[in-house]
Amino acid sequence: MINFREEIIKILDEKIESLEPKEIDKMIEVPPNYELGDFAFPVFSLAKIYRKNPALIAEELAGEINSKYFEKVENKNAYLNFYINKSILTEEILKESVEKREDFGKENYGENKNVVVEYSSTNIAKPFHIGHIRSTVIGDSLKRIYKFLGFNTIAINHLGDYGTQFGMLIYAYKTWGSKEAIEKDPINELLKLYVKVNAVCEEDQEVKDECRYWFKELENGNEEAVEIWKWFKEVSLKEFNRVYDMLDIQFDSYNGESFYSDKMPALIEELRERNVLEESEGAEVINLDEYNLPPAIVVKSDGTTIYFTRDLAAAKYRHENYKPYKNIYVVGSQQSLHFKQLKAALKKAGFDWYDEIIHVPFGMVSLEDGTLSTRRGKVVYLEDVLNKATDKVREILNDREKEQNQKIENKEELAQTVGIGAIKFQELFNGRIKDYTFNWDKTLSFEGETGPYVQYVHARICSLLKKGNFDINNEIDATLLTEESEINIIRSLYNFTNIVEDACEKCEPYFITRYTVELAKNFNKFYNQTQILVDDEKLKDTRLLLCYTVKNVIATGLYLLGIKAPEKM
Ligand code: ARG
Repeated sequence: MINFREEIIKILDEKIESLEPKEIDKMIEVPPNYELGDFAFPVFSLAKIYRKNPALIAEELAGEINSKYFEKVENKNAYLNFYINKSILTEEILKESVEKREDFGKENYGENKNVVVEYSSTNIAKPFHIGHIRSTVIGDSLKRIYKFLGFNTIAINHLGDYGTQFGMLIYAYKTWGSKEAIEKDPINELLKLYVKVNAVCEEDQEVKDECRYWFKELENGNEEAVEIWKWFKEVSLKEFNRVYDMLDIQFDSYNGESFYSDKMPALIEELRERNVLEESEGAEVINLDEYNLPPAIVVKSDGTTIYFTRDLAAAKYRHENYKPYKNIYVVGSQQSLHFKQLKAALKKAGFDWYDEIIHVPFGMVSLEDGTLSTRRGKVVYLEDVLNKATDKVREILNDREKEQNQKIENKEELAQTVGIGAIKFQELFNGRIKDYTFNWDKTLSFEGETGPYVQYVHARICSLLKKGNFDINNEIDATLLTEESEINIIRSLYNFTNIVEDACEKCEPYFITRYTVELAKNFNKFYNQTQILVDDEKLKDTRLLLCYTVKNVIATGLYLLGIKAPEKM
């Protein structure tokens, strides 16, 4: 496809001697609306060199530029506004669509560089609660985005499967636990034990010591301790995997905190050699004063390691094993300080790759009061939320069956696709950092800016293509698409790859969420205003090709958010 931006750089490079192509590229802007052109170039900075008023410079440049790729170049308030030639653009988009089909917009910008994306990172023996959904859904989307742009991705679930709490759990299980009860309802039973042992530890120093003892035994490989711990892990993962299956989310590695337990001694030795460990009240810490950060504890006074130490080891392991271009951690903003310390500690220790670490934080999600009552007590389990969404969509589909007196094919699958898709869409609708409150009605509505709405437009196009006997090999004529609603769609399609690149660069999937809504809305406008299945075959086939392209881009957009696009709804 013609790169219109490159064309502008070429043109301006010829006209403006004082600027390098790279600088020109950086200065080019995309105006907020098409009335100001497809691209704009500010000339203010040239005033000094030319010793002329900026508006005059822009006026003169505009008069001199003559390119078939732009139907208009004009001066507006000292900006050069470039308007892409619409028929060339339309032709380019349709050509690209025929060539790439479902892969429209795909790129190899990543050149197979490795990107580690760590997300979800649930804690063994604890609930997979609604708070984890953000990490899981944002991380999975980032993985898909990186892949789409030609990176090689490694998805890691850094399980919380180590630490003193496992000593507590082992003690609790041995003292009060029941194998049958845990097998029946693992997470809930383990949670109960955990709550109980915590309360007892508060009061009873002896029990606290017992718990410490059991963690030490676990670290030392005591057979009984290891066996119980492994079993906790197994039953917990079985529960988590059920949720991951529902979400259609996979990982390449489940190397969690325990994976690094045997890598810690060598790491601590290396840190000592590098002279970054200091003694402080019996503990060994890395002083981070020079980065204006509190010191990071590496070895506690009782000789055990902590969460931070395991993250040092994990970062090093990932660096050595994956040689990543980026090592991304999708973890809530409560842990921002932790990741700042992690990066600073690595820098201080002289690991010059510390910069590959990227913390992608996000805000909290809360539920409106009373919208979700759970059988299981105070914690809101993600699985219950997903089931409730599916139930609600099933009800809507049941009503529709009654109304239309017609059975819906694959109703169960559709209810899941739409219900779970709606939750993900809602989750990815806003910038990451904002806290937000989950709202059932808004999430599951088939109208407005929701997942079901976008899925519905996709399904509508699928049936339209069938009805019109769409065939990609039919003859078309791009110059026939002149209606404003058609051009709007073409422009939107042209922007698709840029949007995905922006989403990747800023780790913000919501750029894509918003984009799919806009495209779906633009399509509906076109659909309502224009007769698509007209008698004129060529016009009909050209319009259908436009529809087909929109369908593919919506499906890709949804895919990048981790959402399926049903063909019938
Ligand atoms: N398991 C932790 C939690 O639920 C998140 C782990 C984040 N990842 C990391 N490498 N520290 O809070």
